[in-house]
Amino acid sequence: MASQGKVAFITGANKGLGLETARGLGKLGIAVVIGSRDEANGRSAADKLKGEGIEKVEAVQFDMTKIADYARIANYLEEHYGKLDILVNNAGVMLDDGEFGNPNGFNTTSTVTQDVLHKTFETNFFAVVALTQTLLPLIKKAPAGRIVNLSSILGSLALHADPKSPIYSTKAFAYDASKTALNAFTVHLAQELRDTKIKVNSAHPGWVKTDMGGSAAPMELSEGGKTSVMLATLPDDGPTGGYSHVGETLPW
Ligand SMILES: NC(=O)c1ccc[n+]([C@@H]2O[C@H](COP(=O)([O-])OP(=O)(O)OC[C@H]3O[C@@H](n4cnc5c(N)ncnc54)[C@H](OP(=O)(O)O)[C@@H]3O)[C@@H](O)[C@H]2O)c1
Repeated sequence: MASQGKVAFITGANKGLGLETARGLGKLGIAVVIGSRDEANGRSAADKLKGEGIEKVEAVQFDMTKIADYARIANYLEEHYGKLDILVNNAGVMLDDGEFGNPNGFNTTSTVTQDVLHKTFETNFFAVVALTQTLLPLIKKAPAGRIVNLSSILGSLALHADPKSPIYSTKAFAYDASKTALNAFTVHLAQELRDTKIKVNSAHPGWVKTDMGGSAAPMELSEGGKTSVMLATLPDDGPTGGYSHVGETLPW
């Protein structure tokens, strides 16, 4: 996909995989708008990329959980770019039940609180749907829009149900279910947009060293950004409605 004149908006791009995706797209000459809920963090992320020689990058304050921010970012993109070529729905949370008094760890299925479930779904699912709906008219103004939903292998029902799969024993219920729901959004939206040039895909970045992934993760950030960049720059004959990790399809 030719990069010239394209613009990408990436949520949660002040650090981790979002920042790495901004770096990857910026290096291709795509103008990158970094969404960051903390304005100063966003600005310093943009400055960092500029220091690395990426010219077309800027930061905009954006909180997934603030409905007013959706229209604000849509107006901003409309005014400054007139369209949106690439939306990377990257921002996400994995909440620990521990802070709500559960000693059993992450999102334990039998004990996960309603609070953790609601907060997880709010950022990882409801906000992604609402933001995408708001930005869709702008994405339709681009010649060939790309929507990348940052899912996870932990959203795969097929792998969770298979005792032989590597994730069988890794069950953070709220997080996993929110990513399964996100995968449903990918499939449904791709079907609705099947007669357009817009492609919608779910990405599994790998288990990557970030604040969320932790230091035990085997993948470095430089590797972890590859799937998002790949799906954000798919050629016209690339897949839509898929779920993949660096080009390899995952089972739903
Ligand atoms: N790392 C992995 O191994 C891995 C594996 C599979 C999938 N993923 C997915 O990849 C995506 C990025 O993860 P990561 O590892 O880079 O995590 P991370 O380092 O924790 O970064 C998460 C980003 O999301 C932002 N965010 C969270 N809530 C937000 C909100 N309400 N509004 C705006 N931004 C918000 C964070 O902003 P603040 O800095 O303000 O908190 C941060 O920029 C997530 O969707 C995650 O589920 C990660």
